[in-house]
Amino acid sequence: MATLVAAIFVACATAHLLGIPTSPFAPAEGEVRLQDLGSIVVDTNFADVVDEHGQTLIPPTLKEFAQTFAQDLHEFAIDVPVKLGESPVKGSYFLTLGDPVKYRDAAGRESPEGYTLSVSAAGITITGASPLGVWWGTRTILQQAVLSNGSIPLGTAVDTPGWGTRGMMLDAGRHYYPPEFLVDLCAYMSYFKQNTFHLHLSDNLYNNVDLYTRQRSLELYARFRLWSDSPVVAGLNKFKNESYTRQQFDFIQSSCASRGVTLLPEIEAPGHALVFVQWKPELGLSTDLSLLNISNPKTIPTMKTVWSTFLPWFQTKTVHIGADEYTADVNDYNDFVNAMADHIHTVSNKSTRIWGTFPPKYNQSGYTNIYQNVSIQHWEYFEDNPLYDYIENNYTVLNSDDSFYVVNKWSGSYPQTVNLTRTFEGNPSNRGLWYPYIFDISNKTNNPLREDSLVLGEVAPLWNDYGPNSSVYSEAFYAWKDGIPALADKQWGGNLTREEFGHAFNALLPFIPAQNLERRVRSKSSTILDYTFNSLSLLRANGTQTVADRSGNAYDGWTDCPSDSANSSLTVSPSCSMITPLSSKGRNYTLTLSLRIDNLDPAIDATIIAGADSTLMLTPNITLFTGGEYYRLNTSIPLYQRVELSLIGRGNQTFAKIDTSLEVEFKTGIGINGEHFQWEPIAIEAPLKIVGGLGCGWNGKVFDLRLSNSI
Ligand SMILES: *[C@@H]1O[C@H](CO)[C@@H](O)[C@H](O)[C@H]1NC(C)=O
Ligand SMILES: *[C@@H]1O[C@H](CO)[C@@H](O)[C@H](O)[C@H]1NC(C)=O
Ligand SMILES: *[C@@H]1O[C@H](CO)[C@@H](O)[C@H](O)[C@H]1NC(C)=O
Ligand SMILES: *[C@@H]1O[C@H](CO)[C@@H](O)[C@H](O)[C@H]1NC(C)=O
Ligand SMILES: *[C@@H]1O[C@H](CO)[C@@H](O)[C@H](O)[C@H]1NC(C)=O
Ligand SMILES: *[C@@H]1O[C@H](CO)[C@@H](O)[C@H](O)[C@H]1NC(C)=O
Ligand SMILES: *[C@@H]1O[C@H](CO)[C@@H](O)[C@H](O)[C@H]1NC(C)=O
Ligand SMILES: *[C@@H]1O[C@H](CO)[C@@H](O)[C@H](O)[C@H]1NC(C)=O
Ligand SMILES: *[C@@H]1O[C@H](CO)[C@@H](O)[C@H](O)[C@H]1NC(C)=O
Ligand SMILES: *[C@@H]1O[C@H](CO)[C@@H](O)[C@H](O)[C@H]1NC(C)=O
Ligand SMILES: *[C@@H]1O[C@H](CO)[C@@H](O)[C@H](O)[C@H]1NC(C)=O
Ligand SMILES: *[C@@H]1O[C@H](CO)[C@@H](O)[C@H](O)[C@H]1NC(C)=O
Repeated sequence: MATLVAAIFVACATAHLLGIPTSPFAPAEGEVRLQDLGSIVVDTNFADVVDEHGQTLIPPTLKEFAQTFAQDLHEFAIDVPVKLGESPVKGSYFLTLGDPVKYRDAAGRESPEGYTLSVSAAGITITGASPLGVWWGTRTILQQAVLSNGSIPLGTAVDTPGWGTRGMMLDAGRHYYPPEFLVDLCAYMSYFKQNTFHLHLSDNLYNNVDLYTRQRSLELYARFRLWSDSPVVAGLNKFKNESYTRQQFDFIQSSCASRGVTLLPEIEAPGHALVFVQWKPELGLSTDLSLLNISNPKTIPTMKTVWSTFLPWFQTKTVHIGADEYTADVNDYNDFVNAMADHIHTVSNKSTRIWGTFPPKYNQSGYTNIYQNVSIQHWEYFEDNPLYDYIENNYTVLNSDDSFYVVNKWSGSYPQTVNLTRTFEGNPSNRGLWYPYIFDISNKTNNPLREDSLVLGEVAPLWNDYGPNSSVYSEAFYAWKDGIPALADKQWGGNLTREEFGHAFNALLPFIPAQNLERRVRSKSSTILDYTFNSLSLLRANGTQTVADRSGNAYDGWTDCPSDSANSSLTVSPSCSMITPLSSKGRNYTLTLSLRIDNLDPAIDATIIAGADSTLMLTPNITLFTGGEYYRLNTSIPLYQRVELSLIGRGNQTFAKIDTSLEVEFKTGIGINGEHFQWEPIAIEAPLKIVGGLGCGWNGKVFDLRLSNSI
């Protein structure tokens, strides 16, 4: 009896694969080991086919997706060639396309993203409704291999996402993020089968009109992140180092697209539009300069010029014009949205999306509604009711209800991470399940049917309400670290429970390809790097010497600084440096430097050690510099004295310690709407690349350098 119960349990438990998201699965007896599959065979008949039904205008071919899959396998030390062939080969993957008719979304429509995964002892065949469907099938394989110790159970999965728009929105207007960070985020999202990355490219801090003078508003933090040399937008963007050039934007879009993720750009107006008013002050409403004065005859032409300049950059069929939280005249607003939608369609044949703001009104003369082909991104019930205002009037609606909003680091109203309880148990009136058609988590009457074809999917935003010094780049990732995979399961239509999610996520996290958002460093023990300078070895032809790493990880460094054998130290100055093969280490870490400072150049920020994500400085206070911001302690280092300086990254906090003194925490003072400062932790990666060198601003000695992941 006990055996039978166990057998039934196993059968039920394996009726879907417990990946993120889950995949429906009909299991057979046995498994195939990834190690035993020797090549990826791409069906010759479809190698150059692309999916034209998705939002991207640069869809990869089946063969290109196969090559990216091969790169991912390489990260598991599995090297397989990509070949062309007419049919499956024993001991291989076979990637092909099949009849799309069997892959249906929640509304019962054909979905290009569906796939069939057939795993037999002879090999694995993925048959996609399109190349994108095949790509999602490869994600299932990578995940199952991690979850099943390098093997895939035999059986068949026929899997289709319920909704076509699945993803996240990042506020890159009030906080800059480097291109590489965005590309890593796409890789992370793609692993969980999200296909949309909405990038909010312009915004400003809240214009507190009760408090700010006109002049202060005109100086308030406001940014436009695209950089063009075109004279028609000269002066709009004054911050090239915190912007995306055409080349960088192409890199972001094509990297994301290569993993099935479409970058959806947003340029925000006529609200949150202070950056345009700082450019052309006559375009602002005198009552609130963050709002455009649409009745000024120059406003719409100016915004058309901006869009004409940047539309050729955008490799997507839909663009976002913002149109959020406009509080001035509704008729002006509707005219603005329609004029922009017309312009965008005429110039580029693209569709337009807006945030739900002023719902349509019927049977009211003199009121022009927004075109029904403008898609609506619903976010709050005080703005609109997505079902009654939009869906019932034939608008398509994307669910971005603020029940899944995240505001980075601090907010008076929103959480700092995605609410996982809500993700897994969201709607009590719907037996505890949340999916993209659930706009209102507490009132079922407000929700359309699951199969309503006007529900596009869900995109969950992360806002940087309090600007650039609230967080470092990676804190956007940490705010979403478990939220992305959790939401991804539900956006697809998956069935994970919170408990299953926890197990799967912890197992998968270290194996997500093509990104290192956590800045992990491989190490044999808790000591990652251990240099002393008493015995430099091996003088190189280029005049550098090897610094032996005693950790056992062989992270040997190089230096052209003279060693001082009497003091067992390296003599560091602006004319020499010490370089490690590492660059950055994420939480948790302890970085310890024993050093003696003999001279600090008062004219510049002295750099003790610099890395890809941060720089440790003496300004002269001990300072971490990252993302263009300084985070200073009220402590400095005594001169002419050997001290041991430790930097500690512990969870979401960062500390420094000198010798055996108490730890002091780096904190950030976040300005809240000009009203007060909020002091919060800041989690900064350890800088690991270079000590000394041109412009370092100090002379002295380094006795040892150690990095550990114990805290
Ligand atoms: C995992 O697979 C390896 C061989 O690939 C095997 O040695 C090991 O015993 C397996 N572990 C478990 C828990 O099955
Ligand atoms: C908006 O612009 C119009 C036309 O230029 C002007 O008459 C009006 O005063 C402006 N309104 C505000 C509030 O700035
Ligand atoms: C315009 O876009 C639509 C929808 O994406 C597409 O079907 C159509 O072929 C495009 N027309 C042109 C001229 O590119
Ligand atoms: C929405 O579409 C339905 C069916 O095509 C039509 O009967 C109805 O009038 C439309 N409603 C509006 C507001 O356009
Ligand atoms: C920082 O981490 C602590 C402990 O894990 C947690 O309670 C807190 O909410 C985190 N803060 C932020 C802003 O994420
Ligand atoms: C998370 O969501 C649940 C269910 O909606 C709710 O009860 C809880 O208060 C939320 N937690 C936070 C921190 O907002
Ligand atoms: C639920 O939504 C319906 C439709 O909008 C509304 O009539 C009703 O008052 C709401 N119920 C509650 C308890 O808010
Ligand atoms: C989720 O469960 C339902 C009901 O068992 C099933 O029809 C569906 O295929 C499952 N979806 C996924 C993605 O596992
Ligand atoms: C010096 O040469 C070694 C190889 O011998 C190389 O690894 C190192 O990067 C070189 N250093 C510099 C500063 O060029
Ligand atoms: C960009 O340049 C400005 C002006 O020099 C500087 O204040 C800011 O820190 C820089 N930003 C970054 C991310 O380095
Ligand atoms: C540097 O530290 C001193 C105390 O040692 C403090 O008074 C000063 O405000 C700090 N400077 C900055 C810019 O944080
Ligand atoms: C870092 O340490 C904290 C405890 O301070 C722990 O909660 C967290 O899981 C650790 N993070 C990593 C990545 O090890």
